[in-house]
Amino acid sequence: MTRGAEHQRVARAADLLRAGKLVAFPTETVYGLGADARNEDAVREVFRLKGRPASNPLIVHVADEAMARTVCAHWPREAQALAEAFWPGPLTLVLRRGDSIPALVAGGGDTIAVRCPDHPVAIALLRAFGGPLVGPSANPSGRVSPTTVRHVRDAFGDALEVLDGGPCRVGIESTVVSLLQDPPKILRAGAIDAHRIAEAIGVAPDHEFSATDEGVAGSPGRYASHYAPRAHAALRSRPELLAELDRATISNERRVAALVLAPIDVESVDGLTEILMPADAAAYAQRLYASLHEADETSPERILVELPEGDGPMWDAIRDRLRRACAPRA
Ligand code: TXA
Ligand code: MG
Repeated sequence: MTRGAEHQRVARAADLLRAGKLVAFPTETVYGLGADARNEDAVREVFRLKGRPASNPLIVHVADEAMARTVCAHWPREAQALAEAFWPGPLTLVLRRGDSIPALVAGGGDTIAVRCPDHPVAIALLRAFGGPLVGPSANPSGRVSPTTVRHVRDAFGDALEVLDGGPCRVGIESTVVSLLQDPPKILRAGAIDAHRIAEAIGVAPDHEFSATDEGVAGSPGRYASHYAPRAHAALRSRPELLAELDRATISNERRVAALVLAPIDVESVDGLTEILMPADAAAYAQRLYASLHEADETSPERILVELPEGDGPMWDAIRDRLRRACAPRA
């Protein structure tokens, strides 16, 4: 798209937002479902369209630190240090909510999650709109997050305006860190890890995320079953996965899709879709949701996911998402 055409699309999207409509937009992590954060009707429509429980608060997206300050009741030293170190980027800060943002956005509470996304189209949209936008991931609640325009369209159809920013670079949602207690607490793992947060603020954050948690008022993104494909998905070690494929009577009627880290050495089996995942953590994260969508599109009876064994915070964040995608449904 030419610069002029893109500028026009962004301007049109900003007009829609001003009229209280929703617009999906790209970020570096996943696509967001945008609406004016100060417009209660528009925010209500976001909850409705996603089928999201009203108690699960939304992240507010801002163009810069100055806009962030307008949505928070106070802007502590740690927020300043983290924004300077990581914004624009995949880090969400939980702070006290300011009066400009309705309680509805915050699931009825008095806190607010805020982040400045690192994507030129998102920033252009926020600037053209001139105010904060809610932006939950643009997927039906509980399902796999979208990393391409097609994922958003498949979920919500053509009626929803979607700005195209290409495939998302990071591929998993932002790290969420609460600054409401000392030390700060990581509520959702993401590309910005505890070590880097500690470096920026001079104190090691606590964590509070575990795939075994039940729904939690503190951060409902921690519901155990989340990011789930339509088909039943199971997380397996490589030997378990191979044994299971060996036992399974796979056929065109009983299809299985497998996300694996190395090719499976079986004769090509009718009904088996093998999706080869990257060995590098950043590349794996980038492909993760697209691969789950791709697996789902083969309408399999089951999706088997090889558990990656890699060390490091990005692998931890990936395993967190995989455990939720493969968690038993309520
Ligand atoms: O990378 C991202 O953060 C993406 C892109 C679009 O920016 N957005 C995203 O939004 O993942 P969503 O709504 O799918 O996830 C928001 C997470 C949820 O786990 C929610 O519970 C948590 O942030 N959250 C939001 N507001 C909160 C608050 N006030 N206190 C604690 N957790 C909060
Ligand atoms: Mg989400």
